[in-house]
Amino acid sequence: MQTDLRGRDLISDMDFSKEEVETVMDVALKLKRDRALGVPHPLLRDKTLAMLFFFTSTRTRSSFESGMAQLGGHAAFIDHTTTQISHGDTAKEIGEIFGRYYDGIAIRQCDWGFGNQYINDVAAASRVPVLNMQCDVYHPFQILADLLTIIEKLGDPRGKTINVSWAYASSYQKPISVPQSLILQMTRFGMNVRLTRPPEYKLMPDIVEQARENARKSGGSFEVLDDFDAGFVDADIVYPKSWGALLTTDDEEESARIGRKYTDWIADERRMALAKPNALYMHCLPADRNIEVTDAVIDGPNSVVYDEAENRLHVQKAVMALTMR
Ligand code: CP
Repeated sequence: MQTDLRGRDLISDMDFSKEEVETVMDVALKLKRDRALGVPHPLLRDKTLAMLFFFTSTRTRSSFESGMAQLGGHAAFIDHTTTQISHGDTAKEIGEIFGRYYDGIAIRQCDWGFGNQYINDVAAASRVPVLNMQCDVYHPFQILADLLTIIEKLGDPRGKTINVSWAYASSYQKPISVPQSLILQMTRFGMNVRLTRPPEYKLMPDIVEQARENARKSGGSFEVLDDFDAGFVDADIVYPKSWGALLTTDDEEESARIGRKYTDWIADERRMALAKPNALYMHCLPADRNIEVTDAVIDGPNSVVYDEAENRLHVQKAVMALTMR
């Protein structure tokens, strides 16, 4: 166990070593147990967290806000439109100034080609930990919650096959941060990771290369498929979700046209039957119901989506308690 995480940022999934991620899992399980038993755990009494949002959220906002209160502190919700950012406050000023008011700064900035740089620029100027609530490249807290869910449901992740798959959605061009963070973190834990996607839905080449390297080091495996059904075959975990064709086009209309070629990429009961009998169905949510996944699957016996959502709370509390002490 690595216990010295005080003052650390979590922006990329790789910012914490595998051993440090194991510490987060351990602390998250303890805090989850304490909450179930009603044992108070005010580890961040009188501490404050700034939560700066450039994009909407249901789970991330509520789990960070509730988590800080349960730790005895306070989280301030800051919608960027109510700040002076559009009138000139720079990333450096946010880092410098919020770093003097708060004990941690959490940011969601998903703008393609900008979000990750912005969060790093804030971190460079901040004297307190900066936590990535999702950017254009990574969604590290979602994947910590996913990892905790897999460990709870299946035990040791080593040797388990996870199918990280694209699926069709019509709502909007979703960021590529969830699949990128999944292939990065799960390959570190010795899993057999399949990335299944149509050719237009590539992920960033350096992330894919890092996932391959992680798998090589951990004794797991990493493969890329372009056949939706094949991705489900004999998988222990299926994680079909939509993301935008961001590496192919930045034109919304062209992207929608490309997506419509693959409307049959929907997670349904026939596909679930190709996976192992008790395979987990996972999704970070929100999902486009009956477009991305059928009601029968997302509400079915294999679905663990609400446990995943709950675990956001526990892993985030663990990271805040470890970094913001
Ligand atoms: N999964 C997730 O990050 O949910 P929100 O977008 O609602 O925060």
